[in-house]
Amino acid sequence: MRDVVLNILLDNLGHFVSGEDISRQLGITRAAVWKYIKLLQSQGYPIESSTKKGYCLRQVPDILDDALLLRGLDTSVFGRKMEIHSSIGSTNARAKELALNGAPEGTVVIADEQVQGRGRLGRSWISPPGKGIWMSVVLRPRLFPQQASRITIMTAVAVANALKRSAQIEVGIKWPNDIVCGGKKLCGILNEVHAEPQVIHYAVVGIGLNVNFSQEDLPDGIKDLATSLKIEKDKEFCRVDIIRAILQEMEKSYLQRLNNDRFTELLKEYEAHSVILGKRVRVIGIGSELSGYAEGFGEDGSLILRLDDGRLETILAGDVSIRGESSYV
Ligand code: BTN
Repeated sequence: MRDVVLNILLDNLGHFVSGEDISRQLGITRAAVWKYIKLLQSQGYPIESSTKKGYCLRQVPDILDDALLLRGLDTSVFGRKMEIHSSIGSTNARAKELALNGAPEGTVVIADEQVQGRGRLGRSWISPPGKGIWMSVVLRPRLFPQQASRITIMTAVAVANALKRSAQIEVGIKWPNDIVCGGKKLCGILNEVHAEPQVIHYAVVGIGLNVNFSQEDLPDGIKDLATSLKIEKDKEFCRVDIIRAILQEMEKSYLQRLNNDRFTELLKEYEAHSVILGKRVRVIGIGSELSGYAEGFGEDGSLILRLDDGRLETILAGDVSIRGESSYV
């Protein structure tokens, strides 16, 4: 019932609806309406109440609420099952637990804060409350394990398209898993796959997107490397709108372009966003380093590197990170 009251207020955003109207529509007493209004106010919804005019939701707050998220989410798989946590260790860890217990494809775990957020290569991921989108999705792709990097490619393109649509920002992709803006990292993707040699049982793709960090909020260690939507666009963003756009873009790419011939289309889009293609890069692995020109990306999501002696080397995303010749990109 709380969600229905909220939806009536959202349908009339910025306008008053009388308590009597709401109580009539829902077949509940005006006292019950008032109880739900109080509840919503205590949860952070800026609802003005007037004895004469009724109730008015002034603006949509930046609250991770499934009723808000589901409103206007036109997906059939992604986000149809959702868990939202105010604080959690890691959304990837929780999504893996759910996947192991049979959670359906498209199950989403979102947290306002992560206290043990994980990055690639064993790094940690700083995920304070209210500052970003910390989200993981359970997938059950029909891919061979060696094609698993396609999931990262698909997610990176989906995030780039979603950001363009929902935050009016153009971003680049730094192979394999970084979304960058102005030469700094805006978002990281962590694709964790549970597979046997011939079959992927499930994958969990985690997205960490810096949204409302200001420059001072960024810890010293990453100040020079990281950015946020707020820093880039000089305004705060409502995370729910962006999450919805990401889930919609991911579903479109995942269902239509991951498996079939259309993956080449996805790869072309990925290349169009690439900030390393045609550039000289350093590929840093565990105890090794290669330099060369980023010549293209393979159907399996690998990087094709032109070495100085002219040979081509195929690099799998696994354990490497990439640097520009003298900087992060
Ligand atoms: C990276 O660039 O190293 C990947 C970072 C991925 C961070 C996200 S935040 C949501 C999900 N849960 C985690 O613990 N990590 C991913």
